[in-house]
Amino acid sequence: MITRTRSSLMHLLAACIASLAAGAPGQGAAAAAVPTPPGPELLRGRCGGCHLQSGGDHFARISDIRKTPEGWLMTIVRMQHLHQAQLSAEERDTLVRYLADTQGLAPAETAPARYALERRPNVKDLQLPGDLQTMCARCHSAARIALQRRDAQDWLKHVHWHLAQWPTIEYQQNARDRLWWQKATTEVPQELGKLFPLHSQAWADWSQRPHADLSGTWLVHGHEPGQGDYWGVATIARTGDDEYRQTYALDTAAGEHVSGESKVILYTGFEWRGSGTRAAREVHEVYALSEDGGSLSGRWFEAAHPEIGADWQAVRAGPAQLLAVNPSALRTGAAARVIVLGSGLDGAVSFGPGTHSRVLERTAHSLSVEVRVDAAATPGYRQVSVGRLSAGQLFAVYDKVTRLEVSPAFAIARLGGGRIDPVAAQFDALAYTDLAGADGVTAVRLGYLPVRWSVQPYDQQARAAQDEKFAGRIDGTGRFLPAAAGPNPQRKFSGNNAGDLAVEASLEDMAPAVTGKAHLIVTVQRWNNPPIY
Ligand code: HEC
Ligand code: HEC
Repeated sequence: MITRTRSSLMHLLAACIASLAAGAPGQGAAAAAVPTPPGPELLRGRCGGCHLQSGGDHFARISDIRKTPEGWLMTIVRMQHLHQAQLSAEERDTLVRYLADTQGLAPAETAPARYALERRPNVKDLQLPGDLQTMCARCHSAARIALQRRDAQDWLKHVHWHLAQWPTIEYQQNARDRLWWQKATTEVPQELGKLFPLHSQAWADWSQRPHADLSGTWLVHGHEPGQGDYWGVATIARTGDDEYRQTYALDTAAGEHVSGESKVILYTGFEWRGSGTRAAREVHEVYALSEDGGSLSGRWFEAAHPEIGADWQAVRAGPAQLLAVNPSALRTGAAARVIVLGSGLDGAVSFGPGTHSRVLERTAHSLSVEVRVDAAATPGYRQVSVGRLSAGQLFAVYDKVTRLEVSPAFAIARLGGGRIDPVAAQFDALAYTDLAGADGVTAVRLGYLPVRWSVQPYDQQARAAQDEKFAGRIDGTGRFLPAAAGPNPQRKFSGNNAGDLAVEASLEDMAPAVTGKAHLIVTVQRWNNPPIY
């Protein structure tokens, strides 16, 4: 029955991941002599043959579900792959947009599971209540479920589809410890229908709201694991209905200038999906516009390696505000050039008691300040003030680093082989000074300092198998680059290059050196990488 091969599914998935943002009309405009019909017409023409239309514009199944753009994309790709639904790439893009706009999720409904849309690696999945977690989130993330809305009777249909698709589901998910089928067809759809119902006040309100216009100047700041903080200015220009072009110029903590641009579709009035280049890297952007339309936040990542990416925070330039300070901490006795990012940065500058500041340069949205810290200054957070603006936790003074927090604390990297690229693991070390005071210990966040990275075997077994020698290597930025997959004749029983490792960050300009640890599993390839894991 299923004539398409696995590789054709992978091809479809790969193409569709790229298409979500890159598919802005205009891209296919040259080829499309005949314009793509609008959403409702496509639903009738491309889906209505199987999904019965009734009562005007209700299509069986389709009209009973709300999903994110990625959720709609995955379903339509499945319609193409499993049911041979016929539609062009442009038609699919149009339908995804139409369905995400008319049957999407409200911002608040996506909030708990955005990490999955942002393709964050090594995140702890949200926990569904009761038995739902074991029933439904053993094969894929709970986020995949929490990013959909249906009533109990449609959740039940979805369970039926699971069983029809994978008749061995009960064994496959290791669920012989319970009456899987009985539960899956009674309690599970009932509970899901209550937790994630089709109709909600949040969506009723949001779907009535006019879409904001994002055009203008935005101030940006973020942190790229392994590379450090960055900040700068972005210009967003409207190119069509819910379509934008963004250009930006950033400075990094390492002293580099990075420029980039992206083409953006704003789905559902707040789901920013951009594609473009950042320096020489091809990247995708998954951001959410805040409900008040004033800020954007999310993550960008490399198109070919979603595990490599960074947070992105942007606010409209204009309202007077202090946004970020970099570096965010200085040691007693030190002097450095510090950048303050914000709007309305007029007036006198102060970094608080025990510091001396001199403004070197003022631009529209930043200040460059020489800050000197007295050798005897008291460690702790400082109030940074510029004119009438001030912020309490953006800058700190320290005399020693007492703790390094390595993140992620637990990570998975994957060996590369054949058509599957390796999946790297990027570590980062956040420095703190823990100050004992009258009311307990205050953790003062100092930011990211240069550290030395190393890997060791995690336990006796890993030591005996010399995992640290075979599984890969960690570079100076804390990025673990896995080895190649497949049998290795140099290993016992010609084993794979999998490994169980302890990752260590060490700050050596402290005496004694301060260290932080994480756990890394290096395992085999993952063959199927849909947009929502
Ligand atoms: C050739 C028949 C066929 C066509 C054409 C088709 N579908 Fe389906 N669709 C099915 C079948 C069969 C199911 C139930 C099994 C399943 O979920 O795969 C289904 C299920 C669905 C579901 C419910 C899936 C879920 O999440 O539980 C949605 C939504 C859907 N289709 C959307 C679409 C859209 C949108 C189109 C048009 C692009 C489309 N379908 C075209 C046959 C089709
Ligand atoms: C045996 C493994 C397995 C179990 C157990 C499982 N799923 Fe899935 N599920 C899958 C796979 C594989 C897919 C992807 C299908 C595709 O897109 O081709 C999927 C897809 C989904 C999707 C997205 C599909 C769409 O078109 O909207 C949802 C939602 C979902 N599952 C919910 C559930 C729920 C609810 C349960 C518990 C009743 C569950 N899953 C249990 C394997 C499983």
